Amino acid sequence: EPTSELAGLKIMVTAGPTREPLDPVRFISNHSSGKMGFAIADAAVKAGAQVTLVAGPVNLPTPQGCQRHNVLSADDMLKACETYAESTDIFIATAAVADYKASQVAENKIKKVGDELTLTFIKNPDILATIAARQNKPFCVGFAAESENVEAYARGKLVNKGLDMIAANDITAEGLGFNSDNNALHVIWNDGDKHLPASSKAELAKGLVSLIAQQYNKN
Ligand code: PMT
Repeated sequence: EPTSELAGLKIMVTAGPTREPLDPVRFISNHSSGKMGFAIADAAVKAGAQVTLVAGPVNLPTPQGCQRHNVLSADDMLKACETYAESTDIFIATAAVADYKASQVAENKIKKVGDELTLTFIKNPDILATIAARQNKPFCVGFAAESENVEAYARGKLVNKGLDMIAANDITAEGLGFNSDNNALHVIWNDGDKHLPASSKAELAKGLVSLIAQQYNKN
């Protein structure tokens, strides 16, 4: 039983969706439940790591033994991650961060006037790419939620974001991925890859944490 393969290491995990406000009462977000990221945080604690969990708005109890920092928007998540990055050995970005946010958050509730409503969105910062570009960067593990060309897009993100490892997540499979208890991952790194077949997110998290420990210790 690999209980201490991450002993002494500091790990930061992001989990859940972000929530991007439109006005005082509305936001855009996505279906991430946080289950995958919370399972990874739990598995990392059990593997002996000191874990900081940066969580978007989710309805989950904090895994025993990890430090939790709650955030709402991508900007807030980036701020939290930059605070902890300095003392992070391994960063695992499981969060489904909104790629865009409203260009302006309305100060007052948007009124129902015309038959159409047009909103303008601007790019959010890429948290993972920002952390991976730091001078003293941690070992960076990304996720890639894809509905087509899964492996190719995942490999693109591995290279373009400067990652050490990426977990490709085909989100078209029934009963897996967003907001379910099960998932399947194709984990890819520079000179290897491994399929972690469909199982509970807890099982997958254990498998992923083991792979990360193996690759991290090769460095
Ligand atoms: O939360 P669950 O319901 O358990 O579902 C789990 C999951 C499907 C959300 C998870 O397994 C998953 O695939 N997470 C990544 C979702 C995602 O937004 O992927 P992406 O391909 O858009 O992003 C690529 C990587 O960059 C991810 O590691 C993401 O955290 C990161 N990213 C993306 C955009 C951004 N602005 N900042 C980021 O850090």
